[in-house]
This record gives sequence, C-alpha cells and structure tokens, in this order.
Amino acid sequence: MASLVIKDLRKAFNVGGKPVQVLNNISLNIDKGEFISIVGHSGCGKSTILKIVAGLVDFSEGQVHLGGKPIEGPGPERGMVFQDHRLLPWLTVHENIAFGLYEYRGKELNAVINAHIKLVALSGFENAYPHQLSGGMAQRAAIARALVHNPDVLLLDEPFGALDALTRIQLQQEVLRIWEQEKTTMILVTHDIDEAIYLSDRVVVLSNRPAKIQKIVEVKLPRPRDRTSYDFSLIRKSVYREFFDEQKENAVLEYFL
Ligand SMILES: Nc1ncnc2c1ncn2[C@@H]1O[C@H](COP(=O)(O)OP(=O)(O)OP(=O)(O)O)[C@@H](O)[C@H]1O
Ligand SMILES: [Mg+2]
Repeated sequence: MASLVIKDLRKAFNVGGKPVQVLNNISLNIDKGEFISIVGHSGCGKSTILKIVAGLVDFSEGQVHLGGKPIEGPGPERGMVFQDHRLLPWLTVHENIAFGLYEYRGKELNAVINAHIKLVALSGFENAYPHQLSGGMAQRAAIARALVHNPDVLLLDEPFGALDALTRIQLQQEVLRIWEQEKTTMILVTHDIDEAIYLSDRVVVLSNRPAKIQKIVEVKLPRPRDRTSYDFSLIRKSVYREFFDEQKENAVLEYFL
C-alpha cells in the first residue's frame, strides 16, 4: 500500500499580483521504504513539491496524504534536508541534533544523539561547531538532525549540490547505507541524473513549468550499483532522452556513454 499519496496536485504562486501556475496535476504514489528521485529543469517546481509534502507550502488543489492522513502543516514524521545545512552556528553538532528533540531526557537523549552521530559517521565531532566542519560533514549533521525525529519520510532537496564530486559520491553511499538500515522513505530532488539512478527505485522526470510528470523511470538494478556498467548507461540514456531532443541527445550521449 502506498504510504505517501499525491493526487491531482496543483499549485499556483502569486507573483506581482499575477498567478503563476507551478504544478499541474501531479499524481504519485510512493510506497513505504521506497527511494524516489525527482529530476527536472531549474524552476520547474521540484522544491515546491517537497515543501508541500513537508507542510511548509500550501497547495491550490489536490490531495496529499501520508499514511492515510492529510498533510496540513509541518510534522516530525517528515524530515527535510536542504541544499545548505541550516545548522545553528552557535550550537555544536550534538546540540544542533538535540534541538527540538523533546521526547528524550538525560542519558537516553545522549544515547539517541550519539547513535545518530555514529549513523552519519561523525563520531569524534560531537562538540564541533558548524564552522569547524567541512561541507560534507555539515550535510551529514543535517541528515542526522532530520533522522533523529525518526521520520517516516525524509525529504532531501539537493542535499549534495554544493559538494565536490568525490564527497558527493561518498555521501550517496552513506545515504544508501542509512536508507537500508533505517528503512525510511526517501524523496530526493537532484540535478544529477547519475545520483538519481544510483540511489533510487524510481526516477520521476518533471516537465518544464507548470510541472507535470513527464516520465517515471524504474531502476531495477541490484544495489550497490555500478555507474560504469552497460545497464546503468542504458537507464541514463532513457532519462537523458527526456531532456534533450534527438540531435542534442546524441551529442550528450556520446559524451556520457
Ligand atoms: N514563495 C514563492 N513565491 C512565488 N513564486 C515562487 C515561490 N516559491 C517558488 N516560486 C516559483 O515557483 C517555481 C518553481 O520553484 P521551485 O523552487 O519549486 O523550482 P525547482 O524546480 O526546485 O528549481 P531549482 O532546480 O532551481 O531549485 C519558480 O518559478 C519559482 O519562481
Ligand atoms: Mg529547488
């Protein structure tokens, strides 16, 4: 049974007194524990979908349900990680993760936080302040801060966008490990098609604004996936095909295959 149900979702923003239609009849069922990526051109509405699921933005028409309940605002069962880590600079890693976590006290609180610090491979940096972390470490702390509330769904909005290629690949592997361990439903917005294919069960390709679902590409390759394999390249090709016309596509494919 689908855990997250998005049905006929439409969203228009008011820009300078004029309505700008951003989402156009988006319907998507996501199973519990599924890993979904959303790709699409800049400005097409990817972050808007995540913010609606997070309860940070309202919507004009349609329905969004999690576990049968309508989403009407933010809640701890939906964690979000943004492109920038958004850690509080005056709090340590430990304190950032503890912030807003009211269900534990004393030793139990410390045990839960330390387990999450370990989960994102930041042991030894509990007392570091955000400015003392690298970009990748800060993003891992942000992921721990979202996961500590034990969310059913983790919403990742280009969480590795600002990182170098090697750190990015390392963090993709860590997110995969966390997903396998925690069984959290993951919805990742990314511009990186390889990242989407490497991580996801399904890659949702959005059209230009107003966004509708143009194609859903299923990725049935066993994990861990080999980005250099022929099967991976075929899936990459089918996703690229959605973005480029015939002529441009061939040029791009020659480069990537
Ligand atoms: N609060 C807002 N008020 C008005 N317009 C908005 C608001 N938030 C987003 N938009 C508009 O909605 C459209 C989609 O924005 P969104 O941030 O969802 O795009 P995106 O697909 O995430 O883009 P990117 O890949 O660049 O992050 C854009 O045209 C943007 O200008
Ligand atoms: Mg965005």
